[in-house]
Amino acid sequence: MSARLLVLMSGRGTNFKALQQAIESSRLDANIDAVIADRAAAGLGLARDCGIDTVLIDRRRHPDRASFEASLATAMAGYAPDWIVLAGFMRVLSAGFVERFLGRMINIHPSLLPKYRGLDTHARALAAGDAEHGASVHFVTPELDGGPVISQARLAIESDDKPDRLAERLLPLEHRLLTATMALLTTTRVSLHHEQILLDNQPLAEPLLLGRDLDGLGSGRD
Ligand code: GAR
Repeated sequence: MSARLLVLMSGRGTNFKALQQAIESSRLDANIDAVIADRAAAGLGLARDCGIDTVLIDRRRHPDRASFEASLATAMAGYAPDWIVLAGFMRVLSAGFVERFLGRMINIHPSLLPKYRGLDTHARALAAGDAEHGASVHFVTPELDGGPVISQARLAIESDDKPDRLAERLLPLEHRLLTATMALLTTTRVSLHHEQILLDNQPLAEPLLLGRDLDGLGSGRD
């Protein structure tokens, strides 16, 4: 049976769109039951155009994080998802909320974690003079951008890169990384045990690398 996904987002929704295109072209055996946003994100329009349920839980209409998260949890509970994908979801979730979904909530983050948690990752990689930048897909744990990393995509930094250009060059890799990682997660027994990722009961020693362990079309693992 197809995996049931919920996507949470705050913005453009290109990572959502990449997942949906992978589903439509049968590269990912899943179904996105709903897209939930914390603000009037442009990506909600993309989801609507695909005939997917959209839910807006506007943070500004809630007096505090607890009431926002209560509304979010209620909306999510209606869908009983196998996986919750944070795809450009820019809100920090409380430890209590995250723990309810431990082991089945993942996030895509635009850096080679553990480097550059938080914001402005492209500018920070450039300012540090890094030779490489990239993106990571990780399990969401209470520590912000600190959960075990499942997979990464790497990108050589070029001498004329600026933050915007670097972000733009990274984005297509993010799309491939997220779809390939979801293909893996929906076809392999993946679990999280005390911060250790197990793939078919084997500990994952290091993040899977796009182009080496994962391809852009699905799982390239042996
Ligand atoms: C992506 O670059 C994603 O990695 C980043 O937001 C962008 C969303 O783009 N996420 C974070 O920074 C999370 N900390 P999209 O809305 O076009 O998918």
